[in-house]
Amino acid sequence: MSSPATPPQNPPSTDVPPTIEWQRKPAGIDANLRDYDSVASTFDWKTVEREFDWSWTQKVNVVHEAVDRHAVSWRKNKIALYYTDDDRRDEKYTFQDLKILTSRFAHVLKRLGVKTGDRVGVFLPRTPELYIAILGINRVGAIPVPLFEAFMEQAIEDRLGNSEAVVCVTTPALKDRIPRAKLPALHRLILVGAAGESADHEVSYEQAMAQAPDWVEPAWLTIDDGLIIHYTSGSTGKSKGALHRQYAMVGHYQTSKWALDLREDDTLWCTADPGWVTGTSYGIYGPWTLGISSVVIGGRFDPDRWYQTIQRYQVTMWYSAPTAYRMLMSAGDALPRQYDLSSLRHICSVGEPLNPEALRWVRQITGIAPHETWWMTETGMQLICNYRSLDFPIGCTGKPFPGTSATVVDDQGKELPPGQLGNLVVKPGWPSMMKEIWNNPAKYQEYFRIPGWYVSGDTAYKDEHGYLWYQGRADDVIKTAGERVGPFEVESALVAHPAVAEAGVIGKPDEVRGQIIKAFIALRKGHQPSEQLKQEIATFVKNHLAAHAAPREIAFVDKVPKTRSGKIMRRVLRAWDLGEPVGDISTMEE
Ligand code: WT7
Repeated sequence: MSSPATPPQNPPSTDVPPTIEWQRKPAGIDANLRDYDSVASTFDWKTVEREFDWSWTQKVNVVHEAVDRHAVSWRKNKIALYYTDDDRRDEKYTFQDLKILTSRFAHVLKRLGVKTGDRVGVFLPRTPELYIAILGINRVGAIPVPLFEAFMEQAIEDRLGNSEAVVCVTTPALKDRIPRAKLPALHRLILVGAAGESADHEVSYEQAMAQAPDWVEPAWLTIDDGLIIHYTSGSTGKSKGALHRQYAMVGHYQTSKWALDLREDDTLWCTADPGWVTGTSYGIYGPWTLGISSVVIGGRFDPDRWYQTIQRYQVTMWYSAPTAYRMLMSAGDALPRQYDLSSLRHICSVGEPLNPEALRWVRQITGIAPHETWWMTETGMQLICNYRSLDFPIGCTGKPFPGTSATVVDDQGKELPPGQLGNLVVKPGWPSMMKEIWNNPAKYQEYFRIPGWYVSGDTAYKDEHGYLWYQGRADDVIKTAGERVGPFEVESALVAHPAVAEAGVIGKPDEVRGQIIKAFIALRKGHQPSEQLKQEIATFVKNHLAAHAAPREIAFVDKVPKTRSGKIMRRVLRAWDLGEPVGDISTMEE
């Protein structure tokens, strides 16, 4: 590998270890994807295009495929969205409702001069308005830029600045985190839930929606036009914007059908926030292009509420993340027994590896084994999965989605034999592959540094049955509670604190969260290490960047180890953390 990879904790061997337990497919299973092997060998994405009206009209807009066409079919009164925050709101929206509301919102945007291709920020808590805004933006052909609700000023400035968003939809409570003075392109804020008069640059969502018409024809696009930009983190530099094309809907649709196994009468609960790609690919575009009902809950994570949600909505398909499953697990076995979880028929997991212990626990509580799905913000759709109709060894990541070709190669791009650890790569050309990194062609090229392959940055091996096994990251990207955090962003926030001279950040293994963020900090002259200072620094990052990006552990050091060219040696920090030998430090500065 080009950069020194972290060695896997359990180096794979060519023999499948005897301890491996196979998860057998349920007897008499009737899955959408019936026979993986025969489908995988013959499948052609062209056949999926025919599922979309644009395949014969040539008029492309995801809002037509996800909303409008259902609103003129028998699905018009089918519930698209169930919403509750268990507090003030308890609502249902049909496809017909979504057609009207996203039309109205499109009108509001048009009145503000938003045009095809413009970027529009969506900085909202998880409420129905978040979903209406994203699809309303799509309706005018503009590109939504979702901003996770927990982001603070620096994170917002980076993303709205880089995307040059012209409008941002937000709330009175969140708007103070938008540094308008530093965002020259941003000329209007649309405020959801604002009471009374607003300033010149502010528009009341409720007032504007009340005056808007019930129908706005979608802007007709091509399959290459923009669908959405999701910002994500790498090991170097600020966050980068992965731009997806309208054509991505083909991938969202088919993976929702075959990996999530969604059917007409399903009720899907995808627990991810649309601030992250899972919350849009599988909380919006996938299920709704299929015309499936979807559940969204607002508010904070709470084990009781989670089980309550499954019981109340009789959720059939549950898509969540390992950290969530582990948090439920640590809340104990007694709690789930108080609820009826028997509606569930399929469960999937994403974001980080699901450890066998957590998989078995979910299986014991629900009777269903969670199925892995591996993918990334940049890939737009699931690429390596376990399927309902296929046995799999517990702990594996799965097999390539039909029509895609994830595999393991060396640094030259040569495929490696079973059992050998290497780069997890994918042949470019799957439907939802990002189109570009916004405003940064050089960053985009980095993903193709091994000729002929999209390089994920993960390491993996393949076993002799063709299953892929994720082994870790090859770079310094941190995954904490399933959320991707770039060490550089955290280090930049840390050095902005007046007491911090230098900072280096790593992911430290953690039983529940997968990794936690640990910072090594050298203080400026005149500052003394103390517990109180640690607290103060962590709070500082929380207030500038986001709570999930704040270090949970801080160690004070005399100096942060750097190479002679000034690169932070996170490998050395990881060794310090584990109390292990630091290895070759010949490139380290004096
Ligand atoms: C990284 C991408 C797009 C889904 C949400 C995460 C890790 C993702 C798995 C899995 C092991 C996984 C990888 C990947 N990852 N799914 N099933 N098993 N690791 O998207 O924030 O862009 O992160 O998440 O390391 O590269 P993301």
